[in-house]
Amino acid sequence: MRIAVTGRDGQVATALAEYGAAHGVEVVRVGRPALDLAAPESVRAALAAVRPDVVVNAAAFTAVDLAESQAQAAFAINAAGAGAVAEAARALEAPVIQLSTDYVFDGEKPAPYHEDDATGPVSVYGASKLAGERAVAAATEDHVILRTAWVYAASGKNFVRTMLRLAQERDAVRVVADQRGCPSYAPDIAAAVIAVARNLAAHPRDAALRGVFHLTGQGEATWAQLAEEVFAQARAAGGKGAAVIPITTAEYPTPARRPRNSRLDGAKLARVHGVVLPEWRQSLARCVARIYDTERQGEPGA
Ligand SMILES: NC(=O)c1ccc[n+]([C@@H]2O[C@H](COP(=O)([O-])OP(=O)(O)OC[C@H]3O[C@@H](n4cnc5c(N)ncnc54)[C@H](OP(=O)(O)O)[C@@H]3O)[C@@H](O)[C@H]2O)c1
Repeated sequence: MRIAVTGRDGQVATALAEYGAAHGVEVVRVGRPALDLAAPESVRAALAAVRPDVVVNAAAFTAVDLAESQAQAAFAINAAGAGAVAEAARALEAPVIQLSTDYVFDGEKPAPYHEDDATGPVSVYGASKLAGERAVAAATEDHVILRTAWVYAASGKNFVRTMLRLAQERDAVRVVADQRGCPSYAPDIAAAVIAVARNLAAHPRDAALRGVFHLTGQGEATWAQLAEEVFAQARAAGGKGAAVIPITTAEYPTPARRPRNSRLDGAKLARVHGVVLPEWRQSLARCVARIYDTERQGEPGA
């Protein structure tokens, strides 16, 4: 099976390439300048050159706060760009897997979100990703939309790496304690995406396998609890942690609003595709261990 993935150095794109290399799946990353989601006319030829069995759109305008002041770019990439990827996939007669986000919800539900719960994004980023879901669904029936959340990896820009860096600089870190979600490790997401891709390729006309699914790590945490666990695991690995000072969202104003409740229910993905991600603490331990291993390998004499 050959999978074309949009994006080059993104967390999920990188993890897909690594997972493919380790499991005998050909994963070809296609990114700028050949494929630029802001230039929809570039998409078709770039994907056609790969001759993929499945297309995964893992590229996006992911800077949530910046999107508030760059709405046009966010919509061009996350909505029109996603639609162009799905149209190209249809032309190639390949299913498309679109990565989406918990931020399509307003966060006011007191329980984890199901796929058919009403959406209501509270940020430009969330609105642009929801428009992307709709553009993909309008372009081809042969699609899966995987909403994930709170993504982290051993490289790239993410909360876990930010916390580890802050622990080097200070003894205490103020972290928001009134937003709740499901931390999701990019390599776990990659394994799940490839399992879904295999199912789609094996059952080309099975409508039950298509549609919207929620894909996140098992369990839940606040950002403050996630930070506590990052520091506990850093200390266990011989590194430095910091004290976590819990604060409210109101005490940490950002350009974009974020949902209070970002928890996604993954039961549908488990039932239909047989995919369940590990509990988030287990995956976080793998990630922190990998970060320290990489650092040690980089040390002189290591
Ligand atoms: N990060 C999260 O916490 C989170 C949460 C929920 C959902 N998601 C969704 O999950 C997916 C993967 O996220 P991620 O964390 O892997 O993202 P990421 O690490 O921020 O990477 C974004 C990727 O998009 C590519 N990209 C950006 N603009 C592009 C353009 N105009 N044309 C082509 N490629 C472009 C980047 O290309 P380069 O490699 O060239 O820089 C990069 O590969 C996205 O759909 C995102 O919306 C993420």
